[in-house]
Amino acid sequence: MGVGVSRWRLAGSVAACGGMGTLAAQGLGQASDLPIPIDEAQARRRDDPHGVRAVVRETQAALQRADGRGIVAVNIMVAITHFEALVAAALEGGADAIVCGAGLPLKLPTLVGDRDVALIPMVSSARALRSLCRYWTTFSDGRLPDAVVVEGPKAGGHLGFSEAQIDDPAFQLEALVPEVVAEAARWGDIPVIAAGGVWDHQDAWTLFDLGARAVQLGTRFVITEECDVDPGFKQRYLACGPDDITLTRTPVGLLGRVIRGPLLAAFERGEFPGFKCHYRCISSCVAHEVRYCIADHLLDAARGDEMGFYFVGTNGWRCRDLLPVAELMRRLAEGEAAR
Ligand SMILES: Cc1cc2nc3c(=O)[nH]c(=O)nc-3n(C[C@H](O)[C@H](O)[C@H](O)COP(=O)(O)O)c2cc1C
Repeated sequence: MGVGVSRWRLAGSVAACGGMGTLAAQGLGQASDLPIPIDEAQARRRDDPHGVRAVVRETQAALQRADGRGIVAVNIMVAITHFEALVAAALEGGADAIVCGAGLPLKLPTLVGDRDVALIPMVSSARALRSLCRYWTTFSDGRLPDAVVVEGPKAGGHLGFSEAQIDDPAFQLEALVPEVVAEAARWGDIPVIAAGGVWDHQDAWTLFDLGARAVQLGTRFVITEECDVDPGFKQRYLACGPDDITLTRTPVGLLGRVIRGPLLAAFERGEFPGFKCHYRCISSCVAHEVRYCIADHLLDAARGDEMGFYFVGTNGWRCRDLLPVAELMRRLAEGEAAR
């Protein structure tokens, strides 16, 4: 979860419990709380040296916290300008897996070569998985994904769906999982990870019964003691109701699910705070059309600022207990009431 929501502490804690803890590479250069020394030669390079060093350091710190347990993954958006440099940073940091969303990571196998790292693309349809597998098998020596995340429209953050598809039963996770599982089976034994709107043990089992082999949760892990955001971010989740959660089009050109607040209210009044592009972080960015910089406001949110852009899943309003990661993992594995 970017920017700065899942960093080393959260990812390392999830892995320490035997899960896959994923840290978000995007914006880490600004969001990281670790000391990140960069030397002059690195600073002169044009590929976002600070962000790159932050990904290395945060991955190493997450692995240290995991202490040999679970899996530490790095999530890198395909649309990010410094995609290749961030993949190299994840490898340098020793990541066990690289997870890629916001586009199909066609060149990923070429970038990692024969390094021992699991490659996990995110898709929102069976068709996308087919295109990716066709491309990889043709151009990358028959390499296939080690797993695939299928994310439905109830997820937090950016969504791979149009407004019309969001509530359409044909695009709900329960409809997508069997299609993606069938497609994955055509290519071999690719485990499918279901994401978006998973709340508890029961939800996970519903998806396992449809063929998913794992689930990915975002929203619920924000309300953990170890989640790396400012307490003000968690407070917004704890205080929000179902009507506070809405969709908006972001400068990335996709719909994003967010908590209503002063920032969206200002946009709705036609007031835009003005911005300067510091990062050129997304190749498809239309910030000059929508008149705000999403990286700036996501970073504001990670710091708990009023004018932050608070990504959230449809379940955000159900978050009421701040739990340690180990207790949340236990409840997910055993059920809420089990002891
Ligand atoms: C605050 C927040 C930030 C997110 N940022 C990213 C991101 O940077 N990259 C990404 O691939 N997914 C991102 N997501 C999506 C999550 O990785 C996850 O797949 C999704 O939220 C799962 O649905 P859930 O929130 O209902 O559990 C984000 C989600 C949230 C809530």
